[in-house]
Amino acid sequence: MNSSVAFGPGKVILLGEHAVVYGYPAIAAALPLGVYAHVEPAECCRICIPGNLDEKQSALLQQAFEQAAECVGRPPISVRLEACLPMSAGLGSSAAVSTACAKALAMAAFPGKERALWLEKAAEMALCMEKVFHGSPSGVDHTTSLHETLLWFCRGEATPLSCPVPLNILVSMAGKRASTQSVVAQLRERRQRWPGHHERLFEEIGRCVEEARVAIEAGDLALLGELMNVNHGLLSAMQLDSENLTRRVHRLRAAGALGAKLTGAGGEGGAVVGLFENPEAALEVLRAEGLHCFSCRLASPEML
Ligand code: MEV
Repeated sequence: MNSSVAFGPGKVILLGEHAVVYGYPAIAAALPLGVYAHVEPAECCRICIPGNLDEKQSALLQQAFEQAAECVGRPPISVRLEACLPMSAGLGSSAAVSTACAKALAMAAFPGKERALWLEKAAEMALCMEKVFHGSPSGVDHTTSLHETLLWFCRGEATPLSCPVPLNILVSMAGKRASTQSVVAQLRERRQRWPGHHERLFEEIGRCVEEARVAIEAGDLALLGELMNVNHGLLSAMQLDSENLTRRVHRLRAAGALGAKLTGAGGEGGAVVGLFENPEAALEVLRAEGLHCFSCRLASPEML
């Protein structure tokens, strides 16, 4: 085989994080930023561990890659990763790594096969890697990364969503955060202690996600923004936000966002997402204030 490159996009969750772990739906989209897996023919199947990872991260990546490679008979390739996405920031960096590696392995193991054929195997490998990184993920992150579009996701099933108007977002970074696994585990403990209260909050998030689907398909950005605001309030009620995140959410709203919320696991740092008709002016102002942020138009199925 020749040299090749596989891309695993990062993701942004518009609504439904955490509740999705308990079987409620979520809406997520792939980002134009992500992780590239550069593939070269080699004598044996191996991954070059990036030099910036600590010992624990290196061991996890090695273990995750080995397990994925075993699924497809260890094709003789060498994989080198290049990250063009903020890492450990709530933007699905581990799923982007998993997807990039899974695509690289699948393309090497099934050369010349149609995308649909190797995509199924890539999904299996990406999930296998995500389990090494996060324990028992819902699967929304790697599924969004693999589909590279705006998705409705519930219990492992994904449906691409179309929106008749552009979905423009601005993402503001709020620094490093605790691992997704530990934030999810802390919430699980609180849910075990107060199950009724948490179920009510998850059900309300589920209702917001259902309404948001209708809003997206109708191109009703004002309603979508409002539902994102409510979703942030519900995550906050579950202690998943922080002063750091909520300050940024309020800053995005003051800068003209139709709605804004934390995205991903939350906790101390991570990222917040705002929905904008046109984010360019806000982007300029926020960057001038020293905030680390970027904007993009979310890809929906008709753009692929
Ligand atoms: C993390 O990006 C999303 C969470 O809902 C965890 C998961 O879905 O596995 C917090």
